Amino acid sequence: MSNPDRQPTRLTVNGKAVEVTADPDTPLLFVLRESLGLTATHLGCGGNQCGACHVIVDGFAVASCDAPLWSAAGKEVTTLEGLGTAEAPHALQKAFIAEQAMQCGYCISGIMMTAAAFLKHKPNPTETEVRTALDRNLCRCGAHNRIVRAVLRAAQEMATA
Ligand code: FES
Ligand code: FES
Repeated sequence: MSNPDRQPTRLTVNGKAVEVTADPDTPLLFVLRESLGLTATHLGCGGNQCGACHVIVDGFAVASCDAPLWSAAGKEVTTLEGLGTAEAPHALQKAFIAEQAMQCGYCISGIMMTAAAFLKHKPNPTETEVRTALDRNLCRCGAHNRIVRAVLRAAQEMATA
């Protein structure tokens, strides 16, 4: 229900300051998709079990289906739309294409955001570390092996860039 007296929640999304007037308990996922029109972040399980909705909040991957708007107040949120562009793709986006790591693509936004946060903290990971970092991200198409190869390829490219 709308409340005319409600104070807006301020946060930064993909480098841009935004104000959202919504129930502070609204899942961040719905704010991103419905209030801000950023539809790259997907709803999967809705219960912090699949990783499809992962975004980066202040440097860490977060399940946006399970994070209320208030928890992102004053923070920096990055979605897939903020990772790279068609003209200047992120190393992960290039690597996922090179390894043909997408099948239906539904899980990929969450996986790329998890991987992007992970590589910031662990720039030169082993395959086991990549698998562990992605163990909360499910892919129904079973593209996991190609996804792991793509993350390792991106790490290598980022290390030599
Ligand atoms: S939709 Fe958020 S973890 Fe599955
Ligand atoms: S590519 Fe289809 S769910 Fe992962």
